[in-house]
Amino acid sequence: MNKPREQWGSKIGFILAAAGSAVGLGNIWRFPYLAGQNGGAAFIFVYIICVIAIGIPVLIAEILIGRTAQKNPVGSFKMLTTSKFYHGIGGMGVVAGFIILSFYSVVAGWTIGYLYEAITGSLLNYEVAAEASNHFFVLTHDPVWNVALLIVFMFLTMGIVYFGVQKGIELGSKIMMPLLFVLLVGLMIYGLTLEGAFKGLDYLFNPDWSKINSDVILAALGQAFFSMSLGMGAMLTYGSYLTKKDNIPASSVWIAFLDTSVAIIAGICIFSVVFATGQSPDVGPSLIFRTLPVVFAKMPGGHYFAIFFFFALSLAALTSTVSLLEVVTAYFVDEKGWKRKNAVVVFGTLVTLLGIPSALSFNALENFKILGKTFFDLTEFISSNLMLPIGGFFIAIFVGWLWGFDKVKELVKEGSEKLFDRLPWLMDFWKIILRFVAPVLIIIVLLSSIGIL
Ligand code: PHE
Repeated sequence: MNKPREQWGSKIGFILAAAGSAVGLGNIWRFPYLAGQNGGAAFIFVYIICVIAIGIPVLIAEILIGRTAQKNPVGSFKMLTTSKFYHGIGGMGVVAGFIILSFYSVVAGWTIGYLYEAITGSLLNYEVAAEASNHFFVLTHDPVWNVALLIVFMFLTMGIVYFGVQKGIELGSKIMMPLLFVLLVGLMIYGLTLEGAFKGLDYLFNPDWSKINSDVILAALGQAFFSMSLGMGAMLTYGSYLTKKDNIPASSVWIAFLDTSVAIIAGICIFSVVFATGQSPDVGPSLIFRTLPVVFAKMPGGHYFAIFFFFALSLAALTSTVSLLEVVTAYFVDEKGWKRKNAVVVFGTLVTLLGIPSALSFNALENFKILGKTFFDLTEFISSNLMLPIGGFFIAIFVGWLWGFDKVKELVKEGSEKLFDRLPWLMDFWKIILRFVAPVLIIIVLLSSIGIL
């Protein structure tokens, strides 16, 4: 990097920015629909275990690598090890960012489409769930609507990364994230007043243990990585803007806590309505788009609420897409010497092109299946359920075994001496998780998902 590296203004600034990358469609769109497809409470239980037992320890490890090396994912591994393999792991993160961005922007495009519907008021015409579902079906069945919104959203993402309007997006997310949170809590309270809503709570919090199988565990693990932006270097890159004064473990727990709370609150919002209106929980990616219009149509002030909600959701998605494109851009700028603007235009365009078959997976290409999955489902599966856990596995192995744990201990203590003085067992706990628990669990889950175990 030619310019001096930027640093976060304050501790809370870092936590909010990292939470901004973490909180997005993963929490509000993906978490509820996965929970609905994987047995509700059983999935949520496994998910929370994955966050605590694997997510937080790997998050600490990833941020520590970034803070120590002060570089992008590939540059960081180049600095810390001569192993070509690990340079490749950094590279896999860049590829994962590229792929995630391609399907993520399709759904992010829908949020803009729904914002438009909310503004014109046409979203408020659907008081009955079946009509809202039908409306979603009509919209997403239109290839032009899908592809056009994908392009609009990628354009916005590229615009921000192109001009590097860090201040704008940071300020924007500082206002919009709390607003999104308040709106979600409001929706949750309203949802819970609907008749039959408590069946939703039962579905979310009263586990049917027989539902837990290897698919559920794989989905929960993949979602923990996806939602916490782990395993592909986004958090590593954010960590590279930290100073030695920052307390990494404490910040990581905060990030995980905020991320998980938003997901659970979104889950309560959606499932109270799903059950109150007699819908089925397992419809997949369309879930929030067919559920929420029904609430907006019914609630007092629903028109404005809907506008604010989809605006805040689009912005939450934008703070995540920006962090994804930033990883790809930073790699080509730092490691390959590209001009920032060229990297943004070239790779933003390529991501958009890769997104087109995903956007068409809901219409023109809906019957085009590879390994039984549409292009959208396939890219989502490969990146989230395979690449992110594999990246997380090697990050855990690197920090747990290869980097030299005596050194790692000193590094992670910088900024958090008091924490480890008070709770010395935390260090051993973290070490055991990185060395054994996380790698073994990830391997078991991955092998069973491809049918080997
Ligand atoms: N965590 C983001 C979300 O939940 C998605 C994301 C994944 C962002 C990986 C960056 C890296 O919406």
